[in-house]
Amino acid sequence: MYYLDNAATTFPKPQEVYDEVYKAMTEYGANPGRSGHDLALRASRGIYETRELVSKLFSVKNPMNIVFTYNCTESLNIAIKGYLKPGDHVVTTSMEHNSVLRPIKHLESIGVENTVVKAASDGQIDPVEIKKAIKLNTKLIVTTHVSNLTGTIMPVKEIGRIAKEHGIAYLLDAAQSAGVYPIDAEELGVDMLAFPGHKGLLGPQGTGGLYIREGLNVEQFIQGGTGSASYSLQQPDDMPDKFESGTPNAPGIIGLGKGIQYIMNRGIENIRSHEENLTAYFIEETSKIDGIQLYGPCNTSLQGAVVALNIRDLDSSEISYVLNEEFGIYVRPGLHCAPLAHKTIGTMEQGAVRFSFGPFNKQEELEYAVKALHRISKEL
Ligand code: ALA
Repeated sequence: MYYLDNAATTFPKPQEVYDEVYKAMTEYGANPGRSGHDLALRASRGIYETRELVSKLFSVKNPMNIVFTYNCTESLNIAIKGYLKPGDHVVTTSMEHNSVLRPIKHLESIGVENTVVKAASDGQIDPVEIKKAIKLNTKLIVTTHVSNLTGTIMPVKEIGRIAKEHGIAYLLDAAQSAGVYPIDAEELGVDMLAFPGHKGLLGPQGTGGLYIREGLNVEQFIQGGTGSASYSLQQPDDMPDKFESGTPNAPGIIGLGKGIQYIMNRGIENIRSHEENLTAYFIEETSKIDGIQLYGPCNTSLQGAVVALNIRDLDSSEISYVLNEEFGIYVRPGLHCAPLAHKTIGTMEQGAVRFSFGPFNKQEELEYAVKALHRISKEL
């Protein structure tokens, strides 16, 4: 089995993640934050420890400003719909995932305007274009950190600076970067940071989170039991309870903590350089294959561990099918829930075959994938 689809979800996870999820279900599977008995307290403590680890990873001072969600999409929805009001304007880019574009398009119906800044054909965004898109009513800039299609790394520092200079909030979608690229929320000038738990952070699916800067006014749109202020019929305003109604995914969140611990022990820089080496090798070797078209910057200082490609005009789904059936290689074809990004790189019709690498991939696996692509290019 050759799993090269880590941008969709990382697999495998560190063994300690599996072990802790199992323990959290079999040894202390109580409801956290509700009852005061030993098992409930143990589950609560486990969640709090993960909250602390997340805040340490993103250099956030107060762990209570980290909200746990079920995935990055939920986090982005809370941030976008909770912050923008009718009459506001939001700036985003053509490299965004539908988890950003669809909530923004949805808000058009209540009078929230948007501008989508077009990237270059390798996915790069010019910060000057972001600046030019700002209007008097611009309240929010939303960009991805690393494109899920081309791996292009966005100029987040410059965008954060522009946002700050104009008094506009900046929401960063760290779906493909959290756990691989160091993120210092304050240094980057990020006001909200949405992240999945199951990708670079190596946690289980059904986990994600959102950092909200202290003092930023974000509305909640799900009300319910929080285990706090139960006398009141109003949703508490305290963080993180304001955004965390109902029983959380305790085993998942506690398992996520083990994923983050693994990253801290191995070192985020070591993970990043491991993935950079794999990506550089793959770009170099695949670019020698007849009829291959690579997308993105093709330079690991500008690109995360994602490589999108096509072979001549072959349908990307067909290539992916052959990789799966004949070689046991698992990748993602098609449009990757990022239609405007495909439009930007010119692959709206064909889609692209996306290879994405994780901390447990080895160069031998990529060597095998390169051989498979050579054969496909000759035989299809
Ligand atoms: N957003 C994930 C991807 O790009 C699922 O594949």
